[in-house]
Amino acid sequence: MNSVVFSPPSVLVTGASGQVGQALLQAFDQAGFNVTGMSVSDMDITSEASVMAALSAVEPDFVVNTARFPDVDKAETEGDAARRLLVEGPINLAMGCKQTGATLIHLTSEYVFDGDNGPYKEDAATAPLNLFGHYCREAETEIEAILPQHIILRVGLVFSADPRRFIGKTLSSFRDGKVLRMVSDEVGTPTSAPDLARVITAQIRQLDLGSTAFGIYHYGGGGSASWFEMGELVYAQALQREDLPDDLLQPIRGVDVPARAPRPLDVRLDCDRLLQNFGIKRLPWRSQMIQIVDQIYRQSGE
Ligand SMILES: NC(=O)c1ccc[n+]([C@@H]2O[C@H](COP(=O)([O-])OP(=O)(O)OC[C@H]3O[C@@H](n4cnc5c(N)ncnc54)[C@H](OP(=O)(O)O)[C@@H]3O)[C@@H](O)[C@H]2O)c1
Repeated sequence: MNSVVFSPPSVLVTGASGQVGQALLQAFDQAGFNVTGMSVSDMDITSEASVMAALSAVEPDFVVNTARFPDVDKAETEGDAARRLLVEGPINLAMGCKQTGATLIHLTSEYVFDGDNGPYKEDAATAPLNLFGHYCREAETEIEAILPQHIILRVGLVFSADPRRFIGKTLSSFRDGKVLRMVSDEVGTPTSAPDLARVITAQIRQLDLGSTAFGIYHYGGGGSASWFEMGELVYAQALQREDLPDDLLQPIRGVDVPARAPRPLDVRLDCDRLLQNFGIKRLPWRSQMIQIVDQIYRQSGE
């Protein structure tokens, strides 16, 4: 009897040592994909030559770009560097994918919106308030013009068990007894890095099977939150597990934070298109965050 041999999709991930990159490598590995993770030392996306060399060597079916400019405020003062990473990098990847026949899945930000009309659908008018958002939008339009086989995935704030990121930094600040002020009047749809990896894995599976549902998508966890509400949940979970003072978290308005680039007030994302075209449901951000805090405590043995 003849048996059908399926070859798993080959996927190249940029930003492989970042919080989303790490979650993707794990999820892709579990899904049986043929995965190659690249850090900046393996492939600098701002260099056309570096991108072409890497894509020619790996010949992936999919490239997932998670490279990120780390600071929204610094994008205002370091505009050239921000533009290289946020615009020229994705252009290099789109050109490379076009030449090698790969599909590009590009992660980008909800800061392409001005925050006056959330929740936002994918075809809502963009109007970035800061340079970071402006460059994110410029990259989207460049990718759309260069490469028909693209997924542009706008995502809300991402959290994970990575000690260098929101939950880890918040917990360590509480333990140091420092009062934290978190912005309470800007809301979005946060999600976890593993949840984002679940979404992208499901998209790749379906595209690999022949789906042609390319285009722009939104994903954020179910519900909505400000930084302050996320901080409150981390704090409540920490107070259940260790002895901490109970007055370490305070709300602050975004406009009262000194030396900060303007931010949109309401960037909740409407994620219905992802459900309609790929059947992907949202997971509530609260239960995801509780699970991750639990994981952090279990790993630290407390
Ligand atoms: N974090 C959030 O709250 C958030 C919100 C909205 C959207 N997103 C999107 O989600 C994606 C992943 O975010 P993240 O939180 O995982 O970011 P992250 O942890 O900061 O990781 C980003 C990675 O980008 C890599 N990188 C920087 N410059 C590069 C270059 N020139 N070439 C190749 N790689 C480069 C870095 O690699 P090295 O470690 O090797 O230096 C880093 O590991 C990004 O596209 C981001 O825009 C994130």
